[in-house]
Amino acid sequence: MRGTVLMLAVTVAAVGVVGCLLPQETPLTPAGAVDAPALLKQRCAICHSLDRVNKARFDRAQWERTIALMERRGARLNDAERAALIAQLAAGAAGP
Ligand code: HEC
Repeated sequence: MRGTVLMLAVTVAAVGVVGCLLPQETPLTPAGAVDAPALLKQRCAICHSLDRVNKARFDRAQWERTIALMERRGARLNDAERAALIAQLAAGAAGP
């Protein structure tokens, strides 16, 4: 029984890692679906317009720092949402 639980945990962790590496075009399964563009509108356009986000030309490391800064300022994101947003933004998908 413990073995089964462990296997499950390992599988979930592996799926999580692969999920982060999926190309942007890959449709996410409904269970883990995070709609990054909708999230941007809901969570990032609260304190400033999305212009701020669209104008930023950041690489992945800069987005990671910026998202962490926004969270300190009050943006609310869970781990899956943060990962999806960073992937989307780093791919330049918030662009014009
Ligand atoms: C609680 C308020 C708040 C929320 C929510 C918020 N931001 Fe911000 N954000 C700010 C403030 C305040 C600034 C202006 C900081 C400054 O100019 O020094 C800013 C500035 C920015 C900038 C410009 C940074 C730069 O260096 O040019 C970007 C990009 C940005 N936010 C992205 C985001 C993203 C992406 C989200 C969603 C995860 C988000 N913000 C959510 C408050 C917020």
